[in-house]
Amino acid sequence: MPSSVMPTSRRSDGHPSPTAISAVGLRKSYGEKLVLDGIDLRIPAGSVFALLGPNGAGKTTAVKILSTLITADAGDLHVGGHDLAADPQAVRAAIGVTGQFSAVDGLITGEENMLLMADLHHLSKNEGRRVAAELLERFDLVEAAKKPASTYSGGMKRRLDLAMTLVGSPRIIFLDEPTTGLDPRSRHNMWAIIRGLVSDGVTVFLTTQYLEEADELADRIAVLNDGKIVAEGTAEELKRLIPGGHIRLRFTDPVAYESAADVLREVTRDDEALSLSIPSDGSQRELRSVLDWLDSAGIEADELTVHTPDLDDVFFALTGGGNVPSQPRKDAR
Ligand SMILES: Nc1ncnc2c1ncn2[C@@H]1O[C@H](COP(=O)(O)OP(=O)(O)OP(=O)(O)O)[C@@H](O)[C@H]1O
Ligand SMILES: [Mg+2]
Repeated sequence: MPSSVMPTSRRSDGHPSPTAISAVGLRKSYGEKLVLDGIDLRIPAGSVFALLGPNGAGKTTAVKILSTLITADAGDLHVGGHDLAADPQAVRAAIGVTGQFSAVDGLITGEENMLLMADLHHLSKNEGRRVAAELLERFDLVEAAKKPASTYSGGMKRRLDLAMTLVGSPRIIFLDEPTTGLDPRSRHNMWAIIRGLVSDGVTVFLTTQYLEEADELADRIAVLNDGKIVAEGTAEELKRLIPGGHIRLRFTDPVAYESAADVLREVTRDDEALSLSIPSDGSQRELRSVLDWLDSAGIEADELTVHTPDLDDVFFALTGGGNVPSQPRKDAR
């Protein structure tokens, strides 16, 4: 669809950035249980958005609503420039969805699954075969294509799932936990595939339990907890929201160390390591002011490192210690 139909907003550089997905006041309850308590989202076209949240937070519910599989109780929702309530059919034509649980039919082969999707998208026989062959090739499934999908590994099934989603060349795709259960190599392969889609201009709405995944892929991240978006921003912005960041200065000269401790206020001293920690949000402004203090006092540190909390810290702080998958923690960068 022409992008001119999409609602636009202004970026800071003054260029219009079309909105691929927007939600205002999205609400959903299952019976008595309120799952989404009026959430707002705006996802620019061509970007990757990650929705994070503990088990049961409502991520899949949000994906199902925005991809027309279930209806919201309230909210002004637009996807691909179409009003979700007024024209779900047009939304369906613009999107692809890879659900949390596989849509692959295990009884038929990978190739047959692809051709079935091509049929559903009303592609001609020839076009269907062409698209299926191209995607099987791209997802490294040519060798497995003639085998029943039930014999595929988890990673192959996930790749086939995504390949099936792409048959209709959607400009907006929803990926509900695309890499859950994949080994690190398969996960990295999936990330490369997703990055490839984004470089083709596709908008990706992703949910994930892996904070590292959001950090790697997403332009913006929202954290869902207790039915509300409790934080939204880039990975770096989210990390700066919670305390724990600091600038660390290490010295080899005890005199320089003492002078720095005098000059800088509110430092935590480590006399043995000759290092000083200064609480900081890690922003350029704060870093500059520390360097200015040192410069004006004629002190030079031997090493300066900036420590920001990682997304795991953010997740725990914002979701009240909600479930985090058993993943090795990253070292602070
Ligand atoms: N069809 C349904 N009927 C009743 N309750 C439901 C239904 N689907 C989901 N729920 C409830 O809504 C809440 C949100 O579920 P949802 O599947 O959206 O969470 P999620 O964030 O995707 O969780 P996970 O990380 O485990 O996939 C949960 O409490 C769940 O039990
Ligand atoms: Mg889910």
